Amino acid sequence: MSTRPTVSPSELEQIDLASPVLHAEYELDEVFRHLRAERPVYWQQPRNEQPGFWVISRHADVSEVYKDKEHFTTEHGNALATLLTGGDSASGAMLAVTDGVRHHQVRNVLSKGFSARMLDLIAHTLQETVDGLLLAALERGECDAAQDIAADVPLGAICDLLEIPHADRKYLLGLTSHAWSTDYADEPPEESWVAKNEILLYFSKLLKERRGGDREDMVSLLANCRIDGDPLKAAEQMANCYGLMIGGDETGRHAITGTILALIENPDQWRALKNGDVDLNTATEEALRWTVPSLHGGRKATGDVVINGRRINAGDVVSVWISSANRDESVFDAPDEFNLARTPNKHFTFAYGSHYCLGHYLGRMEVYAVLDGLRRLVGDLEQIGEERWIYSSILHGMSSLPIRITG
Ligand code: HEM
Repeated sequence: MSTRPTVSPSELEQIDLASPVLHAEYELDEVFRHLRAERPVYWQQPRNEQPGFWVISRHADVSEVYKDKEHFTTEHGNALATLLTGGDSASGAMLAVTDGVRHHQVRNVLSKGFSARMLDLIAHTLQETVDGLLLAALERGECDAAQDIAADVPLGAICDLLEIPHADRKYLLGLTSHAWSTDYADEPPEESWVAKNEILLYFSKLLKERRGGDREDMVSLLANCRIDGDPLKAAEQMANCYGLMIGGDETGRHAITGTILALIENPDQWRALKNGDVDLNTATEEALRWTVPSLHGGRKATGDVVINGRRINAGDVVSVWISSANRDESVFDAPDEFNLARTPNKHFTFAYGSHYCLGHYLGRMEVYAVLDGLRRLVGDLEQIGEERWIYSSILHGMSSLPIRITG
């Protein structure tokens, strides 16, 4: 039902790929098809006050940048929004924007939080949550898939992982949905700064409560771990709680809402899912390839390097477009078809290399639980109103998707 106008490749020199408005209000498939074919390593010129940056669109080149720790760093930010505006305030503290030995050490600590026992526990509650939300939606007959189904799924899982008290969860949801994206083109940036600060403050209190305790949740892990005998700095503890919350919440919501829209727009795939013709793990990978909750990754070049024949200079900002690599026709057969039986499916939805998404198990479990719930409980889905796309150059998804849902 999307009525967003398509941007033509001839407009490439006028558009700004770092603009949240562009990604919310326009379709960019043709632009990226053109970039992959003709200008795979493209330099977007400086615009207004904003510096220029590289746009990498082919699967092979995206992979090359992600893998190359020698020439690229996330320490000045891992997305255009921060890289083009002076860096990330959590640099060197939050995992995603830390590199080198410290990144390795902190990643090891956080990985322990995703134990098999913890994931088993979450999987069970996750399916119960999803089934409960679908049954409630079925009873009403009409609902907003973004707000009434997707919103509560990832937050519940990540809150279980961090053992956030149930009473605080709605409050955190309100904050996380404003930390990285907005519902309106003209929402002032202060809104998102206030949200970020409130999340940090919340975690600073929770970390204090859990210090010295013997619980096994992620917050306690960060509060009590030692690296070479020393505790993590307070800034590292807070920034990583924040990173888990943000990394785990909004992305998952967009994957789920996007999956529901894709099933509505592809009735043959809905039938294949319903008839049990597709393996749910395979279907989950295709839903993740298709929905691309993180549009791009960002890096700064730390030395001169050549990518696909073009020289990138030390200090240049480089963006790698997951949305484009996931549709690369040299890697995926019929990339513009949503095909739940697609295999192999080497998408970059969780990135690649040393910063590969730490929460990928959880992200996969959430989409799987939704596909499974839809398959078992829902007879039909129909879109009954226009969806609303969020304003962000990093995240991609909907804040509203009105649907009719029948058993
Ligand atoms: C990193 C996507 C779910 C925590 C990343 C990156 C991407 C991504 C693209 C790489 C960023 C970069 O290279 O700069 C997603 C998507 C998800 C999801 C699409 C859901 C469908 C989660 C969950 C958690 C999480 C559930 C936590 C519970 C993290 C963390 C990192 C990360 C901590 C940083 C890893 C590092 O730098 O070593 N994620 N993510 N993500 N994600 Fe996720």
